[in-house]
Amino acid sequence: MNKNKYLIAANWKQNCDSKSSIKLINDFVKLFNKTKPKCDVLILPPSIYLNTILIRLNKLKVSLKKISLGIQNISPFLNGAYTGEISVDMAKDFKCSYSLIGHSERRHVFMEDDKIISAKTKLSLESGMNTILCVGETIVEYNQKQTKKVISRQLKSALLKSKDLFKSNQDKIIIAYEPVWAIGSGKTASLDDIADVHAYIRNTLNKILGTKKNTIKILYGGSVNDLNAASILDIPDVNGALVGGASLNSKKFIDICSSI
Ligand code: 13P
Repeated sequence: MNKNKYLIAANWKQNCDSKSSIKLINDFVKLFNKTKPKCDVLILPPSIYLNTILIRLNKLKVSLKKISLGIQNISPFLNGAYTGEISVDMAKDFKCSYSLIGHSERRHVFMEDDKIISAKTKLSLESGMNTILCVGETIVEYNQKQTKKVISRQLKSALLKSKDLFKSNQDKIIIAYEPVWAIGSGKTASLDDIADVHAYIRNTLNKILGTKKNTIKILYGGSVNDLNAASILDIPDVNGALVGGASLNSKKFIDICSSI
């Protein structure tokens, strides 16, 4: 596996204010310039601070090819009377090249169902965005050994409706496996479970695409930190990480980026 191809993404979620988001990106860029990690780095700030971060990156002369920007959520509609929503084109206006779709907090806190996530996936791919589709089981589903069934349903419902679009945009889709119970809990899935689920995702994608091999990136997320990142990123079929809490600490986040 070419280590340059790893993607490490920082999902800041609903954290930071204007001042602390500037400090976080300043501190991170300083460390980034010093350590020059080999991976692709993506920052997903709260959307209201996208422009603040964009201006900062420009001021610091950081190419958006080195540190990309993404949006944590998009509207399932292209545009129109949808109060409070942000369209994929609006995100592109602020130089976002990635969108995060179907995060478990969107699925379980904001009750987004497979239909909404499928619509968002389609819009995102149609707009040419790199699209990170999140999948993962709850603790109840995990205990009932339903993990693969749930993931298969989530992948198929999001990708089958846009199969041709998906087939012709394989380089634009990224899957993030985030067990819901591992998010923010300090508990990661075991290395064996991660390996097993990632291999299953790879296989399911092959079946959807009708191929024997695909090079779609599959990220792991759920309590990834500076101490466990190296062993998780070493697993076959793990092509990067989606980091929440630890991405709010510039030192921890750069250590994760440098652990490849
Ligand atoms: P934590 O790293 O805080 O567990 O969050 C993971 C996550 O949800 C990233 O999208």
